[in-house]
Amino acid sequence: MSPSPTPPAGAAGPLLSLRGVSKSFGAVAALTGVDLDVAAGEVVALVGDNGAGKSTLVKVLSGVHAPDAGTITFESREVSIPTPAAAQQLGIATVFQDLALCENLNVIENLFLGREMRALRLDDVAMEVRSRELLTQLSAKIPSVGVPVAALSGGQRQTVAIARSLLGDPKVIILDEPTAALGVAQTAEVLNLIERLKERGHGVLMISHNMADVQAVADTVAVLRLGRNNGVFDARTTSAEELVAAITGAADNVVSRRAGRAGPGTGAAAEEGGRAGAGGAQDADAVEEPDDDRPERVAPGGLRKGAGDE
Ligand SMILES: Nc1ncnc2c1ncn2[C@@H]1O[C@H](COP(=O)(O)OP(=O)(O)OP(=O)(O)O)[C@@H](O)[C@H]1O
Ligand SMILES: [Mg+2]
Repeated sequence: MSPSPTPPAGAAGPLLSLRGVSKSFGAVAALTGVDLDVAAGEVVALVGDNGAGKSTLVKVLSGVHAPDAGTITFESREVSIPTPAAAQQLGIATVFQDLALCENLNVIENLFLGREMRALRLDDVAMEVRSRELLTQLSAKIPSVGVPVAALSGGQRQTVAIARSLLGDPKVIILDEPTAALGVAQTAEVLNLIERLKERGHGVLMISHNMADVQAVADTVAVLRLGRNNGVFDARTTSAEELVAAITGAADNVVSRRAGRAGPGTGAAAEEGGRAGAGGAQDADAVEEPDDDRPERVAPGGLRKGAGDE
C-alpha cells in the first residue's frame, strides 16, 4: 500500500482494517496479532479450522467482545466497537449463524423487527413497499413477504436475515457460515445474494468451511490458524488444496508435504501476495518451520482441533 498523504476515504484503502488484534479468554489465546483488510466491493472469506478464532474475530467486529490489543480502522479512522449498537452505527452489520429470526412473524415483520417505521402508528404500507424493494434489489426468491418465516426454506431465511442487516445501510456485512445449513440450490441462491452485495459496493466478510463456496464468491481468502493469520490468498488463483494446507497447517497434510519436498517456492505460502501484512511472514513459517508453532498451541481446553494429531 502506498503511503500517499491523505487518501480520500474509501477510494483506495480498505474500508475496514484490523492490525495486531488479540483476544484471550483466560488461558486461551483465541486471537493473536491478527491482521485483516476488507475493501468496499470486496468479498473476503475468513476460513480456518474449528477453534481457529473466526467467531471470536466476528464478535470483536460486531461489538460483542472487546479486543485485548490491536487496532481497528474503519474508513481510515481508528475506532473502538464497544457494543453491538456501536458496530451498527459505524456501518458494520453481522448476520450470525443462528439468524435470530422470529418463526411466527412474517417476512416484513422480521425485516423491521425493532426498527418499525412509524408515522403515527406502524406504517404497514411503507414497510411492505420497502421490504419488496429490498428483496427485489437482492433478486431474492421469497414467495410472499406476508408468509411467516417458519414457512421459508433455509436459503430464504438466510436471505431475510441478510436483507434485514441491510436496513441500517451498512458498509460492511459479516456473514457467519451463511451456507452451512443449506442444500445445493439454496446455497447457490445465497452465493448470488453475496454477489449482489458486492455489486452494491458493500464490503463482505464471509466465514465459511466450504472451499467451493469460498472459491465461488470470494475475492480474497484470509486464513486463521490457531488464532493467528496463516496467509491471505487470492481466491481466483489459489487451489482448494492450497487453502486446506493453510487451514490445517502445512505440515499436516499430503499437499504441503509434497510442496515442502519440492521446495518452499511451490507451497501454499508462496501464493501469498503482497496483500498480507504480518500474515505473510507467518505463512512462510507454516511451510518452512511447520513444527515450531505446534507447542505454542494453547493448552488444556483451548483449541479444540488443531493439527489433527490428537
Ligand atoms: N466466550 C469464550 N470463553 C472462553 N473461550 C472461548 C470463548 N469463545 C471462544 N473461546 C475459545 O476461543 C477459541 C476460538 O474460538 P472461536 O469460536 O472463535 O473459533 P471458530 O474459528 O469460530 O471455530 P468454529 O469453526 O468451531 O466455529 C476456541 O479455543 C474457543 O474455545
Ligand atoms: Mg465459530
